Amino acid sequence: MPILEWNDDYSVGVSIIDTEHKQLVGMINKAYDSVKNMEEEKVLKILVKDMCDYAVSHFSTEERFMEKYGYPAHEEHEKMHHDFTVKAEALDLLIKSGNPVEPVKVFKYLADWLRNHILKTDKDLGRFLNEKGVE
Ligand SMILES: [Fe+2]
Ligand SMILES: [Fe+2]
Repeated sequence: MPILEWNDDYSVGVSIIDTEHKQLVGMINKAYDSVKNMEEEKVLKILVKDMCDYAVSHFSTEERFMEKYGYPAHEEHEKMHHDFTVKAEALDLLIKSGNPVEPVKVFKYLADWLRNHILKTDKDLGRFLNEKGVE
């Protein structure tokens, strides 16, 4: 049973962004599993790869919207995306070079991202886009 289920409180009001955010919820659940699972190393390796892919695909979705509609906080928002990308790549590098990564730290990082980025920064963007007629 997943530790976290998607619910409408997480919605930013733009369907393509919500769809992609569901992937992040899935990653939080995988990270939680990796804290408990006997195969944690294997799970974690795939998870960190997923984080890197997510950073490329999802952030570009939001950044295209910000660019297209002239979002005033574009720069600050993009900086946070950059920080996530750097974090994911650093974890990937650590794992590839055989260094131990604590699954609980990855879990906490992703849970914090949901709380601090999706539920605040992305919701602000969602409200702005809704005003522009994007849903
Ligand atoms: Fe997002
Ligand atoms: Fe974002």
